[in-house]
Amino acid sequence: MIIFAAQNKFRVIKLHDKYFKPFISAVQIEKAIDRLVEEISTDLGDEIPVFVGILNGSFMLTSDFVKKYPKPCEVTFIKLASYEGLKSSEDIQRLIGLTQDLTERTVIILEDIIDTGKTLAEVHRIFKNEKVKTLKIATLFYKPEAYKKDFKLHYVGIEIPDKFIVGYGLDYNNLGRDLPEVYQIKETQHMTNLVLFGPPGAGKGTQAEFLKGKYNLVHISTGDVFRYNIKNETALGMLAKSYIDKGELVPDQVTIDMLNAEVEKNTDANGFIFDGFPRTNAQAKALDELMDSKDSAINAMIALEVDDEVLVKRLLERGKTSGRADDANESIIRNRIKEYYNKTAILKDYYSAQSKYYGVDGVGSIEDITVRLSKVIDSL
Ligand code: IMP
Ligand code: MG
Repeated sequence: MIIFAAQNKFRVIKLHDKYFKPFISAVQIEKAIDRLVEEISTDLGDEIPVFVGILNGSFMLTSDFVKKYPKPCEVTFIKLASYEGLKSSEDIQRLIGLTQDLTERTVIILEDIIDTGKTLAEVHRIFKNEKVKTLKIATLFYKPEAYKKDFKLHYVGIEIPDKFIVGYGLDYNNLGRDLPEVYQIKETQHMTNLVLFGPPGAGKGTQAEFLKGKYNLVHISTGDVFRYNIKNETALGMLAKSYIDKGELVPDQVTIDMLNAEVEKNTDANGFIFDGFPRTNAQAKALDELMDSKDSAINAMIALEVDDEVLVKRLLERGKTSGRADDANESIIRNRIKEYYNKTAILKDYYSAQSKYYGVDGVGSIEDITVRLSKVIDSL
């Protein structure tokens, strides 16, 4: 099991090939069990029930539940073992371990999770032959969207969406049962998402090209995304243009929606290089939210750092051949550099606060700089 962020104990984990994010804390689980205990003990009064845990998943629940149960009770376990049916696609469940005579007893099944209800159907099939007085079903977790049967669920701890979870008895290929809290599968698996910064003349474009190839990242240049949407007259492009034509700033949400579309187009990428966005605190927050909605995050802001005098020299040099007017005038160049630092200072603070700011020395040969950038990315 590999553990990622260091600050918090309840954090993203890796089990086999999959990543899982914190979902339900131990405290929330305990509260749900308290409620189940309260409801069930109130309903049963002084009757002595037999609690039947379904192994393996419900061992933790059963243990915690009966410790909290305020009155005398019996506890036993059964196990449903899957084995290949005659048709290989058919999963047949077989019951192991029901040795106790349950005639005329009040039986409460303790399930860790009810998903499709297939296991529950098998439990009902088996208990049809037992002459129990009452059979009631209690489950800690329940996925209403996945449930396909109509057996009544008498006691439900926590309803959850139809997504795979681990922890608190639940496993992913046998790992994760031991975790005291519950984690939910990350639908977007681990990505490397960078925000790339560099003053004019720092060689950002060249380096982005290189990173794209080396790490299989998708380069999202906000300028290109705008031009693409406007040129192709997409709904978002037209919307953006309506603001631009009025001389107004395009609202962040429009830009975010465009970036979202780019991210959606490239769901199999190893990650993204954001270039030209964010520019403000609000945008940085919006980008964090966008990545969070994809079960992902910005891993680093990488800023190429180049001394002003070097930049001025480089740009004046470039101006001699490029013919770009803004590269030819020293005071314009100095202004652009100053503006760059004014704008990025806020973002440097924003990402530094999350320990995600990496300044990389941008003076040297292209190869030297790519080596420095690679070092940062490999360390993430
Ligand atoms: P059923 O679909 O209701 O029969 O659930 C079958 C079994 O699949 C449960 O008893 C669990 O062992 C397992 N299961 C269902 N959903 C999950 C999950 O999200 N995580 C881990 N195991 C699960
Ligand atoms: Mg189970």
